[in-house]
Amino acid sequence: MIDDSIDLENNVTESEDVTESEDVTESEDVTESEDSSESTLSSEENAALMEISSLPGVGPVTTKKLQDAGIYTILDIAVRGPTDIADATSFETDKAVELCNKARLKLVEIGKFEKDFVTATEIYDRRQKIERISTGSSNLDELLIGGVETQAVTEFYGEFGSGKTQICHTLCLNVQLPVEDGGLSAGAIYIDTENTFRPERLRDIAVERGMDPDEALGKIIVAKAFTSSHQELLVGELGKVIEDSNAKLVIVDSLMGHYRSEFLGRGTLATRQHRLNRFMHLLTRTAETRNVAVVMTNQVMSAPDAFFGDPTRPVGGHVVAHTSTYRLYLRKSGKNRIAKMKDSPYHPEHEAVFTLNERGVDDPVDAKAKSKKK
Ligand code: GTP
Ligand code: MG
Repeated sequence: MIDDSIDLENNVTESEDVTESEDVTESEDVTESEDSSESTLSSEENAALMEISSLPGVGPVTTKKLQDAGIYTILDIAVRGPTDIADATSFETDKAVELCNKARLKLVEIGKFEKDFVTATEIYDRRQKIERISTGSSNLDELLIGGVETQAVTEFYGEFGSGKTQICHTLCLNVQLPVEDGGLSAGAIYIDTENTFRPERLRDIAVERGMDPDEALGKIIVAKAFTSSHQELLVGELGKVIEDSNAKLVIVDSLMGHYRSEFLGRGTLATRQHRLNRFMHLLTRTAETRNVAVVMTNQVMSAPDAFFGDPTRPVGGHVVAHTSTYRLYLRKSGKNRIAKMKDSPYHPEHEAVFTLNERGVDDPVDAKAKSKKK
């Protein structure tokens, strides 16, 4: 099973290049973040501005078709992009492109999106809105320069038992804490593809962390994805759920499980990578436009071409490699776990030691003793 994937993953360059086409370019025009005018408008006024029917030339039939496809607001149109909208609604591509352009213009007009050409200062200001969620381990937070970021996709990959799911569980609780305690006073959305979401475990961790377990569970929205297409459907509907639940964190645990089991054999690889590419770009756009943190877990395989070092590689090929903002490799080290930053636009390739215990993710005992001494 693993050997199959080694061959497939290592020979995908050609097919992946093919999948780069429409989706990649589309995503470029929808990467803006939240605006500053939001705070001055009431939620009703904001909702009215976001109504699809307020777009010129868009009538009730189009609006209804979009709603049936889970697209409720102008922001949803911009996030989904023309290819996805055409697929979901059976509109002609031209119509979908026109809709997206109208949505984008409207968003620029009302200050939700910034202009296409902006100064570096404006980009810098937008990045100042990035917020961070503590992982539960100060070592791991330090590696991430303050915790898991909003407006980004953070990928944790590693072998079974390396702590991926435990990190996801702990983050779901930490995001609920106030900012001074490492959270964002917000909820979480958990897309569970491997049936490993455990509310009992969450309750235990919440109690250990001094949180009310009932209240904590109420702020986590869970969706079990039964197939890869179900997983894609769920991510397409995220916009509304994020708004309704005031979520600042979206978890996908795990990204590749369904794709790996459904797409067997080399002949299916191009389709798999194409679908995966769209899924990943939707996640990225959601993170950026809604200022939420996306955290996903990934499985590993052994790369036969690695003569030196650790031959462990994340699965998903170039598509996942190019779209994850940050990639962290987790490995076991006795009772502890070691996280290594493998891919990041600005983090150094450092390592951090953490542990898994009744508090979920935590610092190892010796590290805690050291920080107490300071
Ligand atoms: P796969 O999904 O199988 O690839 O693994 P994963 O990386 O998601 O592993 P996961 O996060 O589920 O980590 C499992 C490990 O967490 C176990 O081997 C334990 O070391 C640890 N763990 C899980 N629950 C508890 C607990 O209640 N107490 C303690 N002390 N450790 C726990
Ligand atoms: Mg897991």
